[in-house]
Amino acid sequence: MAFRRTSSSPLHLLGHLSLSLLLLSAAAIPAASLRRPPPQIPLFREAPAFRNADSCKTQIHISMTLDTNYLRGTMAAIFSIIQHSTCPENVVFHFLWSRVDPNISSTIRSTFPYLKFMIYRFDPNRVRHKISKSIRQALDQPLNYARIYLADILPSHVNRVIYLDSDLVMVDDINLLWEVNLENKVLAAPEYCHANFTKYFSDSFWYDKSLSETFKGRRPCYFNTGVMVVDVRKWRLGLYTQKVENWMVVQKRKRIYDLGSLPPFLLVMAGNIKAIDHRWNQHGLGGDNIEGKCRNLHPGPISLLHWSGKGKPWLRLDLRKPCNVDHLWAPYDLYLSAKHSFEE
Ligand SMILES: *[C@@H]1O[C@H](CO)[C@@H](O)[C@H](O)[C@H]1NC(C)=O
Ligand SMILES: *[C@@H]1O[C@H](CO)[C@@H](O)[C@H](O)[C@H]1NC(C)=O
Repeated sequence: MAFRRTSSSPLHLLGHLSLSLLLLSAAAIPAASLRRPPPQIPLFREAPAFRNADSCKTQIHISMTLDTNYLRGTMAAIFSIIQHSTCPENVVFHFLWSRVDPNISSTIRSTFPYLKFMIYRFDPNRVRHKISKSIRQALDQPLNYARIYLADILPSHVNRVIYLDSDLVMVDDINLLWEVNLENKVLAAPEYCHANFTKYFSDSFWYDKSLSETFKGRRPCYFNTGVMVVDVRKWRLGLYTQKVENWMVVQKRKRIYDLGSLPPFLLVMAGNIKAIDHRWNQHGLGGDNIEGKCRNLHPGPISLLHWSGKGKPWLRLDLRKPCNVDHLWAPYDLYLSAKHSFEE
């Protein structure tokens, strides 16, 4: 695929905004800036309607968070999901949003007039006092922790949910992911057993037997929490929210890891999940930087592209310094000021 971006438009507002927020996050944010009015919701063009094939029966529940700074990513993700789904009318979105803003609902409605969705307020105070500072301030946003509370927030008739980050696009039928056999596990995700698991936790964790014993009897492997199929009923019954929270309490006392919401998830779940094909989370495409340090795709089939890492495709495209993989995201961009045009 050899898309070349030929837009000659200057930096877009959203690019400026998110970039300056990103840059701000590198330093300590002065208290005054936290009280600035929240950013305006950007405008998106209307996505076309997509219709069900004949054989569609069950509903597919998807949960994502809504964050104004990532909304462009969320919209692209939704668009990619319904576009590639054989049963787009059966997909129900459950959005978690930490602000109370009636406009977000009309923004989604005007972009996707046929979308089935619900918006739930996630109260950041629920988790704020439990968050320990990580090495990356972007990871400390309460909304990052919302996925831990999914089982409490979703209506009780939802027994299974696919949780998705906002910086990804689906390029396959989500029904295939939905129908994954969890084999009695609470959670399914691609597993990466070659990754060095030790480095996700501090020495003080590994040297403290009472803590590291938690992994006794399992072979823990890294998995990315940006794409998960969760058995919500089992999660509720097993009190997994409390289990993850308990580790966050330990972290407050002893500092046993440096990252944000991932390590407590790994502490509870790693080695206990249903491993699914790596095609469902081609992660790391954001790379280490906003510009430069581009990542290439791993070999093998791909069903989902995930720009995890610091760089986001919309920022790099707006800066006109895209990585090659960012051209795979651009066709899903519904942002009204994004004047993408493509040549062979
Ligand atoms: C929300 O909508 C109202 C009008 O309906 C508008 O005046 C206001 O600026 C909007 N706010 C945001 C954050 O977009
Ligand atoms: C894994 O990481 C730990 C901590 O950073 C390091 O001490 C260890 O040598 C690494 N193991 C391998 C096999 O690379």
